[in-house]
Amino acid sequence: MENFIEQRIGEAFTPEGILAHLGTSTLGRRIEVHPQVGSTNDLAREAGRRGEPEGLVILAEEQVKGRGRLGRVWTAPQGCCILCSVLLRPRFSPEHAFYITIAASLAIYRACVALFDQEASHNHELNKPQASSLKTPTIKWPNDVLVDGRKVSGVLSEAEFSGHDWAFAVVGFGINVNLRTEQFGELQSVATSLSAELGRPVDRAKLIAHVLQELESLYLLLQGGQFGPVHSQWARALETTGKQVTVREAAGIVEGKTLRVDPDGALVIRTRQGEEKRVLAGDVLPGNGQ
Ligand code: BTN
Repeated sequence: MENFIEQRIGEAFTPEGILAHLGTSTLGRRIEVHPQVGSTNDLAREAGRRGEPEGLVILAEEQVKGRGRLGRVWTAPQGCCILCSVLLRPRFSPEHAFYITIAASLAIYRACVALFDQEASHNHELNKPQASSLKTPTIKWPNDVLVDGRKVSGVLSEAEFSGHDWAFAVVGFGINVNLRTEQFGELQSVATSLSAELGRPVDRAKLIAHVLQELESLYLLLQGGQFGPVHSQWARALETTGKQVTVREAAGIVEGKTLRVDPDGALVIRTRQGEEKRVLAGDVLPGNGQ
């Protein structure tokens, strides 16, 4: 198994390899694959400024300046993850920009759920123990995808505007695909990979094609002004609802029970003092009680 994973890690992405699995009409019809970049989001932004059409997908085998949420860095070993940015030209109001991020996390979540479901039915057919079926992907507010409580994916959306309207948007995401647990070092308790959770390597080309497919169908809903269905599916996938949480936001720490997520994506928390607090940007800290 170990040798097989190492071998698959060496297999580079190719646009043709992804297109063979892709059934979208816009997203990913043009794909750039780079061996090494600063940040795929930067390349997608440059493409946006050049006037490239919506749907362009930029993938990299390695990023040397990968960016995460809240000014953090995003690091991933070379050749075993998905580091992807998609150029979008939304027609809906920029006040709904947050929906691009939740659509992306939902798309990744759905592709991961499908992967674990397939594994469970495959194991069932072979009469194998159902260990992997017990691991259910979830979304941690606002947009981290977790498996068994540990992060496998994060999303960073960026946009440029022209007056009050969009110039373009870029949605970037990283997925930990074929990494061994030891490769996470001290992050082992909070991060994992799909291969580590499934116990087998995952075909990156098929996975990115599936994510793009899901993202396109959610994005079409947004382009048609249908924000409600995207919001409710995202809210259902959130693992945080109804739990006791500690959230770090710019203004400090908020502790309490999560009540709901508002249409603008804010996490609504009832504090011990009985006050309802809305958090628009922050981190749910690990290790909270139920
Ligand atoms: C997070 O902090 O959870 C968001 C991480 C987003 C990382 C991805 S990797 C591809 C794209 N390019 C970047 O520089 N960042 C995003």
